[in-house]
Amino acid sequence: MPELARPLLAVTRLLPAAVERRIQESYNARLNPDDTIFEGDALIAHTDGADGILASPTDKLNADIIAKLSASVRIIATFSVGYDHIDVKAAAARGITVTNTPEVLTNATADLTMLLLLGAARGASWGDRMVREKQWEIWCPTGPLGVEVNGKRLGILGFGRIGSTVAKRARGFDMEIHYHDRARISPDFEAGAIFHPDLTEFLGHCDFLTINCASTPETQGLINAERIAAMPDGAVLVNSARGDIVDDDALIAALQSGKLAAAGLDVFRGEPDIDPRYRSLENAFLLPHLGSATKETRDAMGFRALDNLDAFFAGGTPGDAVTP
Ligand code: DGY
Repeated sequence: MPELARPLLAVTRLLPAAVERRIQESYNARLNPDDTIFEGDALIAHTDGADGILASPTDKLNADIIAKLSASVRIIATFSVGYDHIDVKAAAARGITVTNTPEVLTNATADLTMLLLLGAARGASWGDRMVREKQWEIWCPTGPLGVEVNGKRLGILGFGRIGSTVAKRARGFDMEIHYHDRARISPDFEAGAIFHPDLTEFLGHCDFLTINCASTPETQGLINAERIAAMPDGAVLVNSARGDIVDDDALIAALQSGKLAAAGLDVFRGEPDIDPRYRSLENAFLLPHLGSATKETRDAMGFRALDNLDAFFAGGTPGDAVTP
């Protein structure tokens, strides 16, 4: 394409080198080599006059910001499967297409979910600290001890791509799979997983609970004190979806009281400024939003976002257009 015909693409974060190479081959690119976090007016300025925006989960594209975007912006392609950082309704009202990157991060996120589950159950956090801080004196028959995973019931909240892939992995640990979602899925896809239409009843079956649903107005704050109370005593909670699905006060209280034996958390409300009480909880295994953080997956996410942009600017419909 001649230079002038290339759409102007504003890229809000520094992306993997292979992705940026491809961007530069096809677009008039406005990159962010310093990886500045653009907020408010700075985000408006960085995207000024652009035809499209290649955004990331750290960009708060709320209704106010969307209203201020240049009239030239016709597409926002986010480098993420989650799009809770974008007001999709406000974008649609301005005729802006929004796309995400499903599928390509399913395996990496499911792997990370198993890491959280095992790390929480087996005390990876305190174990690691004991070694590093020279508190490991001698092998001890009585503790500290973790929780066995093998043969336990795993409840999956949100049995979509990631949730069902977690189920596949957990079957390798002989876990019994239960799930809750808005509706039952086809028995072929369930592969023996047990559907519970009622959330509270479902939670009663969760020796382990993994949260794999999207953050929406319906799921925000869903795992609150009342719902945690419905879980078996000594259960383990894992969250690799979004922090705002869990009520922090309720989860922290349950970890402090021992109602929950442990939690494995990769996502937090207001991250990276997380509720500081998590940092001192021995039974919390904490990671800094690493679900999709492998080299292969981050390249694939970038390429998927670019496939969507390319399709859009070629006049077609991007495969991953999301609807409000
Ligand atoms: C996503 O894609 O939504 C992830 O949370 C980023 O890892």
